[in-house]
Amino acid sequence: MSALTSESRLVDSFETRMIGIDSVDLDKLHALSMSVAWPHRREDWQFLREFGQGVAAIDEIGRILGSAMWFPYDDRFATIGMVITSPRLQANGAGQWLMGHALNQVADRNLGLNATRAARRLYLSLDFVLEAPVFQCQGEAILPPDVGLPAGAVVRPVDAGDMEEIAELDSLAFGTDRRALLARLMAHSKGVVLVRAGRIEAFSLCRRFGRGHVVGPVVARSDTDAIAVVHPHALEHAGSFLRLDTREKAGIFADFLSRCGLAVYDFVTTMSLGDPWLPVPGRHAGHQPRTYALVSQALG
Ligand SMILES: CC(C)(COP(=O)(O)OP(=O)(O)OC[C@H]1O[C@@H](n2cnc3c(N)ncnc32)[C@H](O)[C@@H]1OP(=O)(O)O)[C@@H](O)C(=O)NCCC(=O)NCCS
Repeated sequence: MSALTSESRLVDSFETRMIGIDSVDLDKLHALSMSVAWPHRREDWQFLREFGQGVAAIDEIGRILGSAMWFPYDDRFATIGMVITSPRLQANGAGQWLMGHALNQVADRNLGLNATRAARRLYLSLDFVLEAPVFQCQGEAILPPDVGLPAGAVVRPVDAGDMEEIAELDSLAFGTDRRALLARLMAHSKGVVLVRAGRIEAFSLCRRFGRGHVVGPVVARSDTDAIAVVHPHALEHAGSFLRLDTREKAGIFADFLSRCGLAVYDFVTTMSLGDPWLPVPGRHAGHQPRTYALVSQALG
């Protein structure tokens, strides 16, 4: 081995400090998420920043080396997301540092998050508890199978007057009122509602995200109703990239997704701190509304 190849030197000793995420250039946040191969666009960061709060780690020459965001839905519950440490800094304590700031800011709220494999150990060390896997289903959508409409149901595009009923359905499924988020999403999404006997019994929203479009949230009282409100989006995006994040591991909804070309690409794990986030299995028996697709991993 030559003298040159064995030479080593510490070349980076910049101080890093924490700043509010609102003051960071969107392009730098975009570069940070690209550095860990996440698909978020500038616009996706913008949407998250408008709805949530966060911090970023910045060094003396303006490089963004990490981020963490929190999304307080009310004074009892928040989700945490967009926790990223630049690859060259990982395993040096920055994740703990970022999470420390996030946890300080969310005060006494119960917390939920969706942990990547890389982050599970970090959250376990902060006393988060494992709840359930979320399957990230995505791919080039193919023409969905013809499923027909469930008995007595009509499917139509969502309109602004549906907000109240949609928010109530979502709140029963999610456990927290997400009216403010749903209003923002509806402005960026195409939506479908399933109506039975004059009442909205299922809905779905679909918006631009990452590499293409994402379907979510989807809330329904049964697999067949959930399929009926996802079907129009799969039809519309056949031939292009589509994604849906779901906790449905098996059954006809999961089967329908794979027949639309949305294969399981990866999985994350829902975790909580404080009260359990997800309904206790069995509590949602019968025809209670249930979340078939997440808005996103950060927002739940
Ligand atoms: C997850 C992530 C934010 C962790 O950041 P980090 O700066 O490496 O975290 P820390 O250095 O504070 O380490 C946190 C814990 O994970 C452990 N850890 C970090 N990297 C690890 C690795 N490669 N293998 C095993 N454990 C590791 C640390 O030992 C530490 O454990 P401890 O608290 O018990 O000592 C970072 O890996 C990352 O950005 N990954 C890609 C994006 C991502 O998946 N984000 C999470 C979204 S939910």
